[in-house]
Amino acid sequence: MNIVVMGAQWGDEGKGKIVDYLAADAGIIVRFSGGANAGHTIVIGGERYALHLVPSGILYPDKTVLLGSGMVIDPEALFSELAGLEAKGIDWKGRVLVSDRAHIVLPSYRRLDKEAEARRKKPIGTTGRGIGVAYALKASRDGVRLADLGDPSRLENLEAEDRAFIEAWRERLAPMSVDLVSYLRAHRNLYSLFEGAQGALLDIDTGSYPFVSSGMSCSAGAAAQGGIGPRRIDRVLGVFKAYTTRVGNGPFPTEFADDSPGSLSQYIRETGNEYGVTTGRPRRCGYLDLVALRYACAANSIDRLVLTHLDVYDELESFEACVAYRVRGRLAEDFPTAVRDLEDAEPVLRTFKGWKRSIAACREYDELPREARDYVAFIEEYVETPVSVVSVGSDRTQTIVRESPWTRS
Ligand code: GDP
Ligand code: IMO
Ligand code: MG
Repeated sequence: MNIVVMGAQWGDEGKGKIVDYLAADAGIIVRFSGGANAGHTIVIGGERYALHLVPSGILYPDKTVLLGSGMVIDPEALFSELAGLEAKGIDWKGRVLVSDRAHIVLPSYRRLDKEAEARRKKPIGTTGRGIGVAYALKASRDGVRLADLGDPSRLENLEAEDRAFIEAWRERLAPMSVDLVSYLRAHRNLYSLFEGAQGALLDIDTGSYPFVSSGMSCSAGAAAQGGIGPRRIDRVLGVFKAYTTRVGNGPFPTEFADDSPGSLSQYIRETGNEYGVTTGRPRRCGYLDLVALRYACAANSIDRLVLTHLDVYDELESFEACVAYRVRGRLAEDFPTAVRDLEDAEPVLRTFKGWKRSIAACREYDELPREARDYVAFIEEYVETPVSVVSVGSDRTQTIVRESPWTRS
């Protein structure tokens, strides 16, 4: 069985935690998109792991994890991350494999990324990891894949700095290189998880362009770049928070206008620890945007949802969620394509009653307060998609499974 786990908002929905949780029942975990722009956090008994390139699933000693063809990989960042895991007692050798079709991020890309940002009148707020440059060179057919590293004719046009970088890392990368399609074909009887990075709204095609990342973080990315075809995907899980966050620039209709000390925005940022794992930037916060979530479900054929961070609302008397937009006076129930329409979109909000007690220890759905279950029921009805998992804290164990995603329906 093959399950895709993707972000259904603007990233940082808790994908790492959910992939780690579901990986207990998987044999293989493939990360299909992005690069070191991602930051996926896993917490186990107070120990915190921040992953950027290595797929979540690495923390189990018996799982093989693969960096997929759609990824753009900075070897320096990869080996520094692996060294960090080793220092925490994680034995990764022999079970971290990299698709030979994945592209390499070279030192000049990071510089070009920052230069492009400096030139933009409206910067995107990139992570500065060279991601957009790597995908642009891939599309213009000037990129360097793992499979190219031993072929001098593929490296002729590179700057000396980039060639020296490749020299420095080639030998260490070579034993990890694998033909992903053949590998997955040979292991097709194992349960596989396909881990997305970023989210539906940061995808190059379905996201809020141009304020997006440059990879395929949509579910189709798992098929195109994860080493399998679309018909082999059995389920698409969309992970979303009880509210919305965004890091970097770009339109965000439900963003809280007031971010002053004591505001709800700051309360959510502090309670939910909403600071970027990769850059440390404070994340922008706002209410749940159901218009955007319904769009994400439709664009990605998400058939089950995973709701995270419900516990962050524990102390609120009431809260709201966006059920439509008003764009320059006109009511809109579909997610707009034009940046200007998204910028002008004012949320139409519906109010929900809070539950005013901690749900952090709940492990069964029925243990959740009625108000919390009412919120979930409203979301399910609005987006016409069942919520099968609810996360009530960052720890691996703080997870409520209503229906196992591994159950075939
Ligand atoms: P990812 O990029 O989608 O993997 O998400 P990040 O790791 O960037 O951000 C999610 C943050 O929320 C991390 O600090 C997680 O440890 C934390 N987290 C995940 N699920 C929950 C949850 O249900 N409740 C709370 N309070 N924190 C969570
Ligand atoms: P995870 O996997 C949140 C955002 C950046 C910026 C835009 C483009 O942890 O959810 P890039 O460096 O990719 O060219 O930046 O995309 N961005 C993310 N935001 N979570 C992520 O990954 C992100 N990866 C990129 O902040 O706005
Ligand atoms: Mg993240």
